[in-house]
Amino acid sequence: MSVDNPSNKLPIEPPINADPILRFHADRQLARDAGDPMAHVCVLATVDAEGCPQARTLVLRNVELNDTQALAIFINASSPKWAEFANSSTVSIQTYWPSIEIQYRMQVDTTPLDAEIVAQSWQFRPDAPKKMDWLYQQHAQSTVIGDRSALLGELEQLTTPEPLIAPDAAKGLLIQPVEIERLDLTQSNGVHDRTLYKFVEGNWVSSVLVP
Ligand SMILES: Cc1cc2nc3c(=O)[nH]c(=O)nc-3n(C[C@H](O)[C@H](O)[C@H](O)COP(=O)(O)O)c2cc1C
Repeated sequence: MSVDNPSNKLPIEPPINADPILRFHADRQLARDAGDPMAHVCVLATVDAEGCPQARTLVLRNVELNDTQALAIFINASSPKWAEFANSSTVSIQTYWPSIEIQYRMQVDTTPLDAEIVAQSWQFRPDAPKKMDWLYQQHAQSTVIGDRSALLGELEQLTTPEPLIAPDAAKGLLIQPVEIERLDLTQSNGVHDRTLYKFVEGNWVSSVLVP
């Protein structure tokens, strides 16, 4: 994002603190540089059909879209969480990086990622998750199966297409934050720094929250 500068017509980049998505990427890079094992994951919270909250860890990926970095998650449509996206237009994502002591909480809208991008990205998955994505056609993810040896036996017997491609149920969702809260625990006086950003009419509007 850039802002016109009428005085000399050169675009001025807004301060990174004004754009919570840039800020998120910059903070996440710091966490990655610090070798933080949490830097590549998030916790996704949804609400199930009974109204119960459900939270689970997912890999939070960067995808390049129209020359900008966007966030995406990859899941299988057989899983309960897929239906939970249909129940609510907005879900919640949370990250915490102990290496830099920063938490983000986001309310996000999701839209399906282009199937071609999913198919290409799917090819980089390790063998076992690839096979599991095909097994989910017979045994939906998160359903009960007799025991572990039954699971491994089914995987052994599984026939998969040659060459191995992504099944239709392998999905990607683009994450579009509408509200982002950043909590920074690193202040020297011990008073945490907490900022809420809301996306209002095309702009991010920030407020300071009592931490
Ligand atoms: C570090 C880590 C990364 C994970 N990444 C993913 C992921 O990218 N996609 C996914 O569907 N599940 C991932 N999982 C598994 C989920 O946490 C969860 O167990 C699974 O998706 C079933 O969730 P559900 O029953 O709520 O649908 C990951 C788990 C861990 C611990």
